[in-house]
Amino acid sequence: MKTAVVTGGASGIGLGIAERLRADGLHVATLDLNPAADDDFAYRADVSDPDQITAALTDVREKLGPVTVLVNAAGVEKYRRFQNLSFEEWKQIIDVNLHGVFHTVQAVLPDMMSANWGRVVNISSSSTHSGQPFMSAYVAAKSGLNGLTKSLALELGPYGITVNAVPPGFIDTPMLRRSEEKRLLGGTIEEHIQRTPVRRVGKPADIAAACSFLISEDAGYITGQILGVNGGRNT
Ligand SMILES: NC(=O)c1ccc[n+]([C@@H]2O[C@H](COP(=O)([O-])OP(=O)(O)OC[C@H]3O[C@@H](n4cnc5c(N)ncnc54)[C@H](O)[C@@H]3O)[C@@H](O)[C@H]2O)c1
Repeated sequence: MKTAVVTGGASGIGLGIAERLRADGLHVATLDLNPAADDDFAYRADVSDPDQITAALTDVREKLGPVTVLVNAAGVEKYRRFQNLSFEEWKQIIDVNLHGVFHTVQAVLPDMMSANWGRVVNISSSSTHSGQPFMSAYVAAKSGLNGLTKSLALELGPYGITVNAVPPGFIDTPMLRRSEEKRLLGGTIEEHIQRTPVRRVGKPADIAAACSFLISEDAGYITGQILGVNGGRNT
């Protein structure tokens, strides 16, 4: 039985991915700032802190074995006009959304290399297709994540490790609801649905289904790809 680590696994998309991978028959440990209290394999860890990741992974390995599947879903958004964005805020957003993935991949790589098999899926953002006003730090971090995905795919392919990204668009999660409440979406969710080709909002399960495929044996020839899951909002 393979062991997967899902960051941001306590809410929204990460939670949906953790549930799906469990249903697929994997051991799943989650790393999150606010872990579920009733889950033995839900670890409190800030992905921007390598020491917290190492501590959690030491325990995961002891209890569940080597980690050969990693899904990076932890993320934070920030809406701010660029002229009002402080360098501290910029760094905070890059620290979680991009540096967080640097730390987690570095932490699991020895397990994947020993197994000569691994799967990494990075949850980026559909905002990277076109840019997004007032989200410069977030889009820069997520675009960096797409680039990191492509480079790692080339570097790690010879070790049996695939690395892909899924940029979600318009998925019904606490993050999306927060943005709607603060009127930052440029319309209500209902109005957006009318502009979405498949005429519905996405669900965490839609992203989880893509991840389930990308970590499967069947997807072994797919690496360095950016698989948009967005209801056709970005093509
Ligand atoms: N919902 C969407 O439409 C959408 C669109 C594009 C991208 N995304 C991306 O999908 C991912 C999941 O987003 P979501 O909508 O489920 O949001 P969410 O806020 O519901 O969940 C994010 C989770 O990440 C955790 N987290 C945040 N910072 C962390 C840190 N430093 N260390 C560990 N955990 C941390 C949070 O505690 C939370 O449980 C994020 O990377 C987000 O940027 C979402």
